Parts: sequence; C-alpha cells; structure tokens
Amino acid sequence: QRPVIISTDPGIDDSIALLLALASPELDVRAVCINFGSLHNTSQLAQNALDILALAGREDIPVFLGATDPISQPFHDLGGPKFHGTDGLGGVRLPHSRATVNTSVSAVEFIVHACRSWQPAPLLVSLAPLTNVALALNLDPKLPERCPDLFLMGGTVAAPGNVGPMSEANIANDPEAAARVLSAGFNTQVAALDVTMASWLPPKFLASLRDLPNDAGPFIWQSTRFYERAYETIGGFEGGMPLHDPTTLLLYLKPELYQLHRWPVTVDTSQYPSVSRGILVVDRRGGPKSPPPPDTDKVHFPMQVDVAGVQEFLLSRLR
Ligand code: BDR
Repeated sequence: QRPVIISTDPGIDDSIALLLALASPELDVRAVCINFGSLHNTSQLAQNALDILALAGREDIPVFLGATDPISQPFHDLGGPKFHGTDGLGGVRLPHSRATVNTSVSAVEFIVHACRSWQPAPLLVSLAPLTNVALALNLDPKLPERCPDLFLMGGTVAAPGNVGPMSEANIANDPEAAARVLSAGFNTQVAALDVTMASWLPPKFLASLRDLPNDAGPFIWQSTRFYERAYETIGGFEGGMPLHDPTTLLLYLKPELYQLHRWPVTVDTSQYPSVSRGILVVDRRGGPKSPPPPDTDKVHFPMQVDVAGVQEFLLSRLR
C-alpha cells in the first residue's frame, strides 16, 4: 500500500476521484489538502471533503486547509461554479460530517513534514491548481528528492482548452505555481485534457453508478446531473461527462490503460487577461534529428487511453 496525500478542490469530479482512491487497496489515503480552485471559498471545499470522507466511512482521514489564492497573482473566477455549482457538489447536500478540519498545521506544512519523515515517501496527487505543491517547494526545495512521484490533473497538450483556447482550469488558475512545480524535477504524470476528454463517460455508464448498492454510486449519479447539464449548456456536448480528476488516480492504479510520452514542458505566465496565460507549451517535436528531452525533464503525458478498460475498472472499484 502506498501512502498518498491528495491536494484537491472538491468539486464534482474530485469527489469521484476521492471515492476511487478510498476504494483502492493499493492506496492508503493519509490526508486531504484543500486548495482553492473550482471555488474560491476554501471553507466550503473543506466541508465537501469532510462530507465525502464521511460518506465513505473515513472520517479518520485528516483534512488540512491549504492555499486560498494563487501563489503571486490575484484570483480570477474562471467559471468553476458553472461546472460544480456554487457549493461545489452540484447542489447535492451530503449528511454533514461529524469531523472538522485539522488546524494543527497547514496543508503545506503537512506536505513538507510527510515528505521529510514518511517511509515509504507518499505519492503526491494534485486534483486542483498546483499552489499547495508550489508553496511546499518554497518551504523545502528538496521536496522532489524526498517525494519523487507527483500525479496531477491539468493542462492540455493538443486538445482544446476548457477556460481558454488552449488553457485548462487547474493550470490557468495558478500558472506561476504550475511553472514552479513542472520544472522542479518531480517524476510527474499529467492527466491533461487530451486523455481526460477522451475518457468521456456516456449517460449509460453514469446510470449504472446510480444503481450501485452503496452510498457512493447514487451520490455520484446525483451530483453528476449538474456536471452533465453544465457540459451540455456551456460545453456544447450531448450527455455524459469527461473524466478529469479520476484519471490522475487511474494513471497510478492502471498504467497499462495509457500510453505515456515524455516531453519537455514550460508554462505561459503572461499577465492576466492574456489569451495565452496558463497554456502548457509542450515540445513534441521529438523527430529523429531533435535531441531527446534531458534526463532532468521527467514530465510524462498520457495521450492514448483504453476507454473501455477505464470504464470497466472504474465501475468495478466504485462497486
Ligand atoms: C479541472 O478543473 C476542475 O473544474 C475539475 O475538477 C478538474 O480538476 C478540469 O479542468
């Protein structure tokens, strides 16, 4: 079992990712760290995390408060509530958890402490803007040596963006943090829109979750009603939903479902409201005459996915 720390902004698809992690015996979820993102209101995001943990009977897992704003620039609403609702869970109220946020340390201090002292080192998973991880790097620049493995959802390589022509919400919400983290030397896997959009869950799949004989399935069904409608009205899709945040965990749990490419990447940090702010600039030239990426470049992008395999595995875990 690998200990895992999840930085998240729950979030409808974050909830599915959390439930997937909790249902996976390979993972020992030790902490949930809140980062602003789908909402600016981190107290609401923390309550959502607590309530989802309670739904799964895991009120023992601590929730820590993390970044409330981007690392160096002001927060701008990029439209998170349109996809997640003003409460982050599409208006579905879960029973209120009896647990409360752990205020003994901040999320960022917790990440640094865990990376310094845990054996084996925790897997770092980020389902939100990368602010918590960037702040942890500021506190401990050796973080990538201590905690080498980072799995994150964010960005796009060649697919259209979701908050700009080529920009994705998690990266665009804090491009300076993303630039810091992606150049830090973590062994990184990036669930970018190329593969999360390709992993589209059709309405029939979502209906099969509604009928699961546990609390998680019906909750996912209810909250994804909002998400599905948002993709229909704002995104122009007809039914179903993309699989953003859960893909981050699937990359760890079922690597054989994906084909990875290692490419150098930089992040556009031009000033808001530049149309290119938050774009990942992925150098895919890689032809026979261009040099391979230097060994210090450890950022991997899955580009192909076995969609049927994803659905089968996800359903078996959520069941
Ligand atoms: C990302 O943005 C959030 O709205 C989702 O939860 C996901 O992390 C997708 O761009």
